[in-house]
Amino acid sequence: GLNGHRHYMHKEIFEQPQAVVDTLEGRIANQEVLVDSFGASAAQVFERISQVQIIACGTSYHAGLVAKYWFEDILRLPCQVEVASEYRYRNPVIANNTLVVTISQSGETADTLAALKQIQALKDSRTELFIPTLTICNVPESSLIRASDLTFLTHAGPEIGVASTKAFTTQLVALALLLVAIGKTQKCLTAHREGLIVKGLIKLPGLISDCLAHEADIKLLAQSFADKHHAIFLGRGTMYPIAMEGALKLKEISYIHAEAYPAGELKHGPLALIDETMPVIAIAPHDELIEKLKSNLQEVSARGGQMIVFEDERSGVSSESNFNVIKATTNVGRITAPITFNIALQLLSYHVALIKGTDVDQPRNLAKSVTVE
Ligand code: F6R
Repeated sequence: GLNGHRHYMHKEIFEQPQAVVDTLEGRIANQEVLVDSFGASAAQVFERISQVQIIACGTSYHAGLVAKYWFEDILRLPCQVEVASEYRYRNPVIANNTLVVTISQSGETADTLAALKQIQALKDSRTELFIPTLTICNVPESSLIRASDLTFLTHAGPEIGVASTKAFTTQLVALALLLVAIGKTQKCLTAHREGLIVKGLIKLPGLISDCLAHEADIKLLAQSFADKHHAIFLGRGTMYPIAMEGALKLKEISYIHAEAYPAGELKHGPLALIDETMPVIAIAPHDELIEKLKSNLQEVSARGGQMIVFEDERSGVSSESNFNVIKATTNVGRITAPITFNIALQLLSYHVALIKGTDVDQPRNLAKSVTVE
């Protein structure tokens, strides 16, 4: 049941601290990631790979995009990410020693499954190739799980709302664990760095709860939105895919047209859209790009754009501007920041949809599991 929540989406947003705890359970011990969480042969596989190809759709694709920033930055491991419906039809080149990672809440998404089967067929016909496959999925015994060499189950629990929330969060946790598992097997991640990442993951449920405590402020902010027809989401680095995810959530449950841009791309076109009627949502963690992001925000505000900024304790946007700022979180790290900021965007979409009176759990035209092409 709904357990006192008005919608499954709301319930599932608030289940996220527990979903993270459950996904970490049995996968870490003594500040270490247990590599065989990905399967008994995971260490042997991870040792040999020299790049990663992630394939997914929708929200799961956005999780993959965040992971690309992590893998390349922290491990210096090449990582490509592609939506399954493009990957499978474009005759892609796949290098030997590539780990193929499919990400899916349902494990039944037709395009993702077809892409995986295509790779399996290639492996069957060219047995000299080493192209191991891994599925990160929320449903045991699903088609994707059955078709993969290695598997990792996110323990988000059943996700009923069509808009994916807690599954996405646990996919990111799984990808962070994968990063550490590969890094330690390949000896390109020190025990110290591993310990820091694991500590961050252990703190994550608390960080998410702190963000959920801002619901009243975010709800208030949603009121300035409900009469809008468009919105722009901005981010840099990992916050760019989080902006994409925020825009997707807003589109699918509130039917407001939303676009995400990397903040540095603004002046290459989208700045022309900005006027007083355009809400611009920026995700502004205190990282090495914050000063550049702030100058992007000034450009928007100078054109009359209605700025809404999600920042952390140290970003300093609220003290330097008169923008509408929500301190969504205390200072968070490289891995925990995108996961935490996304929670605030989930709440924003939810409350906008609530005001608009749309069917939050069953948006028009959408299905929970896309088993047709
Ligand atoms: C958006 C959403 C979809 C799914 C996509 C892939 O909120 O839920 O974009 O992420 O249809 O589904 P799975 O993850 O089941 O493969």
